[in-house]
Amino acid sequence: MGTAGAMGTAGLPLLLTVCWLGTAGAATGGKVLLPPSNLSYSFVQICTLNWTWNPPENVSSGCDLEYSSEVVIDEVLQDSRAWSKSRFRLTETCLNEEMRFKVRSECKQDNSTQPSRWLEASLLPKGVPGSAAVNLSCVWHNLESMACTWRAGENASRDTSYTLHYWFDGLDSSHKCSNHSVHQGISGCIFPLSFPNVTRSYPAVRLLLRADSEAIRPVCASANPTTLVKPATPEQLTLSKVKDDIYVEWSESETFPDNCLVYEVKYHTGDSASARIIQVESNSLSVPSVDPKSKYTFKVRANPKPECYSSHLYSDWSQEESIGEELGSAFHSVLLITIPLLVAVSTIILLVYLKRLKILILPPIPEPREILKHMFGEQNEDSQSSAKEDSMDTCHRFGKEEEIHSLIVTETSVAANPDKET
Ligand SMILES: *[C@@H]1O[C@H](CO)[C@@H](O)[C@H](O)[C@H]1NC(C)=O
Ligand SMILES: *[C@@H]1O[C@H](CO)[C@@H](O)[C@H](O)[C@H]1NC(C)=O
Ligand SMILES: *[C@@H]1O[C@H](CO)[C@@H](O)[C@H](O)[C@H]1NC(C)=O
Ligand SMILES: *[C@@H]1O[C@H](CO)[C@@H](O)[C@H](O)[C@H]1NC(C)=O
Ligand SMILES: *[C@@H]1O[C@H](CO)[C@@H](O)[C@H](O)[C@H]1NC(C)=O
Repeated sequence: MGTAGAMGTAGLPLLLTVCWLGTAGAATGGKVLLPPSNLSYSFVQICTLNWTWNPPENVSSGCDLEYSSEVVIDEVLQDSRAWSKSRFRLTETCLNEEMRFKVRSECKQDNSTQPSRWLEASLLPKGVPGSAAVNLSCVWHNLESMACTWRAGENASRDTSYTLHYWFDGLDSSHKCSNHSVHQGISGCIFPLSFPNVTRSYPAVRLLLRADSEAIRPVCASANPTTLVKPATPEQLTLSKVKDDIYVEWSESETFPDNCLVYEVKYHTGDSASARIIQVESNSLSVPSVDPKSKYTFKVRANPKPECYSSHLYSDWSQEESIGEELGSAFHSVLLITIPLLVAVSTIILLVYLKRLKILILPPIPEPREILKHMFGEQNEDSQSSAKEDSMDTCHRFGKEEEIHSLIVTETSVAANPDKET
């Protein structure tokens, strides 16, 4: 009998009519059951509702009474039809969408009695549409803490502060996440979440984001921890050379059960574009017959094993570590830069020094021609030659001036003598 109701809301009235006609024809009489009454709900936890109702009147003693119930969210029939003998049903709720709950009475395996009509109750969302937090996503870090992030809804002000509440089977009551943070418009909160090491299946974690203001619409979500596992970054990556092999080792995880992690080791020599990746299940690895003259750089990350967790999240890469000195080439490049530099600097110093030395030791001997030029005021050639020197090298102008100066001094002293002689 109940199969007709599972076909979807649109075809429901028609299908039910057809069904009733069929059974009414086959059955004698066609007694219709009365529906349950007093349908209501209460919150048992954040985001979990307990729908309760009273039994129908006038149920014949031969009827094996059962209740069938359905959930409709935003006019869409959910794939969650249930039959029960108890007078309550627990359902999850999202709070930010309209939720309709429907229940009816049925006599199990009784063709002569038709199910009752549906009894309905609905839960309407509160607050401004579009004010609920959006883009909620969570990562379960190292089986130790759950870190969730979200954004303000488009119709909520950007600085709306939502608080995250969580609950899972095993907690007496819901907890409020206290380690909140905001970074570039993305809010987040981290709360501790761990289970005994023997646990291999984890309860769903119910999450509620709400604000103090009534205008802000609350929203619920459910997180399946096993799909959100992200291992911690491997630490203490150590490299050592054993003959021609490189032995790589890193610290073992303290929170994961044995054999529940796979490691990806990435290494390269020289240019990182030529990196190679090796997968291992233990926390060490030996890379055989390496080139002793090359430098090798390693990093490692962890990934949960599919046998243990259905998560595809990798840990972050560890810090890079290198082994094998590329001293030869490094030393060469240092030399290539410093030697020409040293040569250039010392040449300059030497040149300057030599010039001064030459002046001190060998004062320039005045050429008779120069003296004559000065004496007869023939300056044209001289100024031309100094201009020529200028364009050749400006750096030596100071030396040149000194030279000229000393030349003049000696000139006058020499020139004084002929004066006195004459
Ligand atoms: C739901 O409510 C019914 C009726 O009050 C109660 O008997 C039942 O224990 C409740 N279920 C839970 C899980 O609280
Ligand atoms: C239940 O049955 C009694 C007698 O059989 C009848 O008086 C009463 O009206 C019925 N109740 C309803 C709600 O039909
Ligand atoms: C109900 O109908 C089915 C066939 O449609 C039949 O096999 C079954 O015996 C009937 N049960 C009763 C209690 O009439
Ligand atoms: C935000 O508010 C406007 C106006 O009330 C409405 O049209 C829009 O649908 C809302 N946005 C969302 C995501 O509900
Ligand atoms: C809050 O979270 C940060 C990481 O975002 C962490 O470093 C810090 O220890 C946490 N504080 C508490 C009190 O848990």
